[in-house]
Amino acid sequence: MGDSEMAVFGEAASYLRKSEKERLEAQNKPFDAKNSCFVHDDKELYVKGLIVSRDGGKVTVNTDDGRTVTAKEEQINPQNPPKFDKIEDMAMLTHLNEASVLYNLKERYAAWMIYTYSGLFCVTVNPYKWLPVYNPEVVAGYRGKKRQEAPPHIFSISDNAYQFMLQDRENQSILITGESGAGKTVNTKRVIQYFATIAAIGDSGKKKEQSNSMKSQGTLEDQIIQANPLLEAFGNAKTVRNDNSSRFGKFIRIHFGTTGKLSSADIETYLLEKSRVTFQLSAERSYHIFYQILTNKKPDVVEMLLLTTNPYDYSFISQGEIAVKSIDDEEELMATDNAIDILGFSQDEKIGIYKMTGAVMHHGNMRFKQKQREEQAEPDGTEVADKIGYLMGLNSADLLKALCYPRVKVGNEFVTKGQTVQQVYNAIGALSKSVFEKLFLWMVTRINQQLDTKQPRQYFIGVLDIAGFEIFDYNSLEQLCINFTNEKLQQFFNHHMFVLEQEEYKKEGIEWEFIDFGMDLAACIELIEKPMGIFSILEEECMFPKATDTSFKNKLYDQHLGKCKNFEKPKPGKGKAEAHFSLVHYAGTVDYNISGWLDKNKDPLNETVVGLYQKSSVKLLAFLYSSYSATDGKSAAEASGKGKKKKGSSFQTVSALFRENLNKLMTNLRSTHPHFVRCLIPNETKTPGTMENHLIIHQLRCNGVLEGIRICRKGFPSRILYADFKQRYKVLNASAIPDGQFIDSKKASEKLLGSIDVDHTQYKFGHTKVFFKAGLLGTLEEMRDDKLAQLITRTQAQCRGFLMRVEFKKMVERRDAIFIIQYNVRSFMNVKHWPWMKLYFKIKPLLKSAETEKEMANMKEEFEKTKEALTKSDARRKELEEKMVVLLQEKNDLLLQVQSVRVSSKQAYFTRNYFKCNISIVQNFQFNRKERA
Ligand SMILES: Nc1ncnc2c1ncn2[C@@H]1O[C@H](COP(=O)(O)OP(=O)(O)OP(=O)(O)O)[C@@H](O)[C@H]1O
Ligand SMILES: [Mg+2]
Repeated sequence: MGDSEMAVFGEAASYLRKSEKERLEAQNKPFDAKNSCFVHDDKELYVKGLIVSRDGGKVTVNTDDGRTVTAKEEQINPQNPPKFDKIEDMAMLTHLNEASVLYNLKERYAAWMIYTYSGLFCVTVNPYKWLPVYNPEVVAGYRGKKRQEAPPHIFSISDNAYQFMLQDRENQSILITGESGAGKTVNTKRVIQYFATIAAIGDSGKKKEQSNSMKSQGTLEDQIIQANPLLEAFGNAKTVRNDNSSRFGKFIRIHFGTTGKLSSADIETYLLEKSRVTFQLSAERSYHIFYQILTNKKPDVVEMLLLTTNPYDYSFISQGEIAVKSIDDEEELMATDNAIDILGFSQDEKIGIYKMTGAVMHHGNMRFKQKQREEQAEPDGTEVADKIGYLMGLNSADLLKALCYPRVKVGNEFVTKGQTVQQVYNAIGALSKSVFEKLFLWMVTRINQQLDTKQPRQYFIGVLDIAGFEIFDYNSLEQLCINFTNEKLQQFFNHHMFVLEQEEYKKEGIEWEFIDFGMDLAACIELIEKPMGIFSILEEECMFPKATDTSFKNKLYDQHLGKCKNFEKPKPGKGKAEAHFSLVHYAGTVDYNISGWLDKNKDPLNETVVGLYQKSSVKLLAFLYSSYSATDGKSAAEASGKGKKKKGSSFQTVSALFRENLNKLMTNLRSTHPHFVRCLIPNETKTPGTMENHLIIHQLRCNGVLEGIRICRKGFPSRILYADFKQRYKVLNASAIPDGQFIDSKKASEKLLGSIDVDHTQYKFGHTKVFFKAGLLGTLEEMRDDKLAQLITRTQAQCRGFLMRVEFKKMVERRDAIFIIQYNVRSFMNVKHWPWMKLYFKIKPLLKSAETEKEMANMKEEFEKTKEALTKSDARRKELEEKMVVLLQEKNDLLLQVQSVRVSSKQAYFTRNYFKCNISIVQNFQFNRKERA
């Protein structure tokens, strides 16, 4: 797209692609192809420089920041020529190395171009400020454009997914991953905004009516968009890295009808971080909804929930911060409240949602004390319990009793069990987390019911917004789940990219030794999920009442240490957090700490309290727990594959549920054509425009971008159909393909490539296409540019020659004319004083007047003749006019006669004689005319 075409993007244009002038300037910078390099640097990781000398394995480099450094040969990477400056697809780089990728992203980011392709990936760097790149004209600008036709953008990915869905009649998915704060959720929302805009175009009026009549809430597009504020209020929180961090993963599917119009949607969520409900780090905050309610923007809610407006009155939600600068909680409360209405929750349900949220806050204020001389807890005051009882529709005395003396099943009988104060507090925490989580999951289910329109649906586009692979100092079970998910997603990517790729080679008959890039990952995945893998040992341990963290660890070691190369003993290090085992993931080795995994995984609840919940007079609460023991117990048994004996309580372990969901997700994804988006966080301080090299490279390694490039280079990433190749590159050696005789495109391409000077191992011929290794096509393009430049220069030279010859002819003629003029002037100068000549000059004017007299005589004669002719024609005209008057009179008389005859005769007579009379009139008329003539 040139400057004029980029104008459709309005003010966003300069954030998407630099102007032609700027690009030309950048590309014409002087460049030393041999010596320009990136050299390793401890602080900056890589810096640009010029090689001064090479000595054995040592290279001396003058860096761009004015230092001279010596480095080993392997610490030097070549720079790409300026032609590749700020390239939009990094797979096209001639020198594909970490440093080039880093600097390309860095230079683009410095110019606020946040989206870049890297082969199949779209990489985006969080700008930390709003750029105009999501304006409505940008949506319109990307509509219907192929990926290579427009600058990289999340809208381009979305539009392509939409086009592929319509063309290939296949489901699509957009997988957005990255570290916390990298921009996954922002991009997910953009994708949804894009579909809501384009798919609704055309029939929004109709849909509005339909939807209004059906549900009296917003349209489907509105509802899809509105699901976000509600889910974010309950599922997002401020963390150290992100003020609006999603503490759950989600997969949103948007279904389309046959004609490509939006038909319905559904949302699947993964692993809500419920521990946040009862605990926050000092720089963090709990879920937004708590603080939204306490703003008192809706006093009736605060009053109904029996709350104060001071978050510090509620210990569960005030362990860290209580306000976030970038978030206006009052405004957000209104948005949440509005979203609840638009999404079609009933008034009862809405009150239920608020009541449960309020009850969770109150839970933290329940106090218990130890009974004298006993290990037994007893309530210390009942006011809070009364409030909770009111909000949750329970009897507060029953609640307190159930907490202090839960009934447990031993064999076939129930017995009452004593509780220490700590045990009661633990139970309260677990219950609060459970209520909040169940409320969240129920809201998702309700939203799905609402978005399920029953309109015919055909294909879907799914958007996955899920935490990316991360390595922390302290990694627990949740991190294992997230890293495992990413391992699976990476395997999915590898499979998609390389298995399909290699299938294509096979189909095209290319000699190729099959490399299974997914296999490296398979070992790690199997270690985690297969029978006797980490999850299955964990789940098994959860079934043994006597199991402890140590017994779990020992089992892991017995089973895997030394037998599986992905399972290692953690290497001790100074200042490192305690760890129990290490896993070698595709993106790095992670040390995991297994403390408390058994408990986390079992996630036990005080079942006596749950029993009270089930009988609650608040319908919503009773509903949340209605299927508690029955379904949970059953699916756990199924999931763990061995639960012959039903354990009565919630025995679907967290990991089993997670695996079940993950498998569902993977099955879903396998039915789709995937598109991959990788979000990068540029710095830890949320500063717009600064990029920390180490941080970026770490993420590129973790999210598979570099891995993708590595594998990409092994294969033949570029390919062109023979006919296209012949047409485009024939110019490189036109004589190899003789004109005028038929030669098929494949042969022609073979001949052509054979005849030019390139590395002949860098390409292969398939049945229909020619395949190139990374970089060769760039070289061919360069050669073509040179050749075209040569040809065009020659054509220009010939045109100029032709024009010059025409000009030259004119110049010669002008010169000849000058000679003639000079000759005449000279002759005149010679004769002008000659007496005869003077005489001639005098006579010449007289000659002219003699001629005038003759002309006058001629004119007079002509005048006479014309006058005579005029008189004659006048006389004739008068005569004719008189005749005309007579004729007119006669005609009038005749008309009068006819009328009088008509009036006087009777109607019958007239009818009979009508024709006769007419005839007589006509005859009479004819007769008169004859007479006159
Ligand atoms: N494209 C963008 N333009 C402007 N600001 C952005 C963009 N992407 C991200 N941000 C900023 O970064 C913040 C964090 O982004 P986001 O919430 O999408 O991160 P995330 O990857 O979803 O993180 P988490 O895993 O914690 O949910 C946003 O609130 C926004 O301020
Ligand atoms: Mg997020």
